[in-house]
Amino acid sequence: MEPSVYEYPSIFRRVHMEKSGEIEEETEFLKKVWRRHLKKPVRRVLDIASGDSPHGQILARERMRVVGIDRSPTMIAAGKRGPRDRMGVRFYRREINKFSIPERRFDVAFFMSETFPVLITNDDLLSHLQSVGRLLRRGGLYCIDIDKMDRIRMVRERKRWQRRKVRTADATVEVTTYDRPFPWYSAIQSVFELECHIKFRDRMVTTRDVIPIRYTVPPLLELAAKASRMFEMVAVYTDLSFVTPLDECDRRWLGVLQRV
Ligand SMILES: C[S@@+](CC[C@H](N)C(=O)[O-])C[C@H]1O[C@@H](n2cnc3c(N)ncnc32)[C@H](O)[C@@H]1O
Repeated sequence: MEPSVYEYPSIFRRVHMEKSGEIEEETEFLKKVWRRHLKKPVRRVLDIASGDSPHGQILARERMRVVGIDRSPTMIAAGKRGPRDRMGVRFYRREINKFSIPERRFDVAFFMSETFPVLITNDDLLSHLQSVGRLLRRGGLYCIDIDKMDRIRMVRERKRWQRRKVRTADATVEVTTYDRPFPWYSAIQSVFELECHIKFRDRMVTTRDVIPIRYTVPPLLELAAKASRMFEMVAVYTDLSFVTPLDECDRRWLGVLQRV
């Protein structure tokens, strides 16, 4: 089987077209949301599907206690490497749909990088929210970053969608994305296939990730929060702004859930 692009932490950020300074901007916005919706200072932070926890590394440098969970040992290993201040984040290898970790309760949790829609079934959505809810103190916040999904692409057979080339410090990557068909009656509303031909100086690797996605819009998150009996949705913000209305949302939105 071909490996996942997450086996190559230095590559996937470029493949996802992350812009320079984006992580810092997102982290600043999270802190603004916490100041707006929480009365107490934030000391303990949980990063869901953290990867190497780039947001968590920034917060840990600001003396917050940060814990990341992710299923990828490679991403976790990358998070543990690097400058000594990276040791500020503690990692647990877990699946996100249902998990527990031996930690005291957190003030806030966040799920960045628009990965939340990989939770497909109602059971997974609810057990995920309950897992996070059990780890948050009452009144604590769970901020979830979700991309704006305004183009459902129904296909009858696998179809190429985008093609581009990106360069990283040590490789050239040819990225091709495909849409795959999915059953009309499931909660899946897209199956996204990401193929990367990575040309390192001395070798070539092909990665493939097939990612079923449940389109997530604010009312679905609000319903899931209520159904979990652990959260209520207290705010929705667009494009890292407190003032841009949903109608003018360009790229992404942030759902803010509060632990009841
Ligand atoms: C796009 S990366 C984002 C990482 C990090 N939050 C960031 O902003 O750089 C998505 C991460 O989600 C993790 N992931 C995806 N599905 C998961 C699952 N079911 N359980 C645990 N981790 C998962 C992947 O291993 C990967 O590290």
